[in-house]
Amino acid sequence: MQASVKLSEMLGIEHSLLVAPMFLVSNTAMVIAALKAGATAAIPALNYRTDQEFRKALTEIRQATDKAFGVNLIVNSSNPYYMRQLSTACAMKVDFVITSLGNPVKVIERCKPLGIRVFCDVVNLEHAKKVEALGADALIAVGSEAGGHCGPVSNTYLLPELIKHCDIPVIAAGGVGTAAQYRQYIDQGAAGVSAGTIFIATEESPVSKEYKQALINYGAKDIVLSTKLSGMPLTVINTPYVQKIGTRANRLEQFLQRNKRLRRYIKMMVYGRGMKKLEKAAFSASYQSVWVAGPAVEHIHSIRAVGQIVNELTG
Ligand SMILES: Cc1cc2nc3c(=O)[nH]c(=O)nc-3n(C[C@H](O)[C@H](O)[C@H](O)COP(=O)(O)O)c2cc1C
Repeated sequence: MQASVKLSEMLGIEHSLLVAPMFLVSNTAMVIAALKAGATAAIPALNYRTDQEFRKALTEIRQATDKAFGVNLIVNSSNPYYMRQLSTACAMKVDFVITSLGNPVKVIERCKPLGIRVFCDVVNLEHAKKVEALGADALIAVGSEAGGHCGPVSNTYLLPELIKHCDIPVIAAGGVGTAAQYRQYIDQGAAGVSAGTIFIATEESPVSKEYKQALINYGAKDIVLSTKLSGMPLTVINTPYVQKIGTRANRLEQFLQRNKRLRRYIKMMVYGRGMKKLEKAAFSASYQSVWVAGPAVEHIHSIRAVGQIVNELTG
């Protein structure tokens, strides 16, 4: 794929905007609304407990619109359903797969012969060169301004570095909440923009009204990195509860994570427990809520429709 090709040309859509996959947040209503507004969107396979539910969601999107959409697969050992989810994505002929947190080789091998494009989340040039050599169709540059598991380097530096040294399109992810920011990434040479946080407080989003209200109330200065939930740095709102429990894994977990033999199991345990906590926080209100969001929260002032935000960002 030529590096200069925009996401809109690649997928035959109106805007080079991707409504990013978000664990526990993305649902079919958000994806369908984004597609109808001329953007594309992806949904994490992990948002569905069973293969049947996952297939049903993909069928629902396909029946609502023929526009291009994708799924997101976590391709490391924290996701025991990875191969089954990949088979379903292939069988349902999604338009693209976004890989995160691991080696995408199996996804590339299975998807490419079917004409399913593979976009890989990357946080540095070394990983980008690796996935490019494996045959990825595009890179998603996850900068330090992104919500979720953000990268260590700002897209001020990462994006131009990847554009300069790689020969496939680079989509910029992180921090976008205004049309000016969207335009800036495109003008810098990004093939497209991936935006997540700005779409959490929407009419279509399934999360609790308390989570949406927190996104309205808090700003960029209130976002902190926590390793407590997934073992990796995750952006969360610094609520009084987060301040109380702290943002670092406890000493025992840190010690066990340094043990080579136990590391994998401890990681899985911390991840599983953290994800349960996030799930509870996303859908029900409690004092013990940990809400995931990136600094783009600064630009959330009300609950709007997904289509309205797509129009505003790309307008
Ligand atoms: C609540 C939330 C959940 C996320 N879950 C995932 C996920 O499951 N898989 C993934 O690859 N990225 C995930 N991300 C990252 C997004 O796909 C995207 O890279 C990020 O939202 C872009 O930055 P922004 O939030 O500043 O727009 C998540 C982000 C947020 C805010």
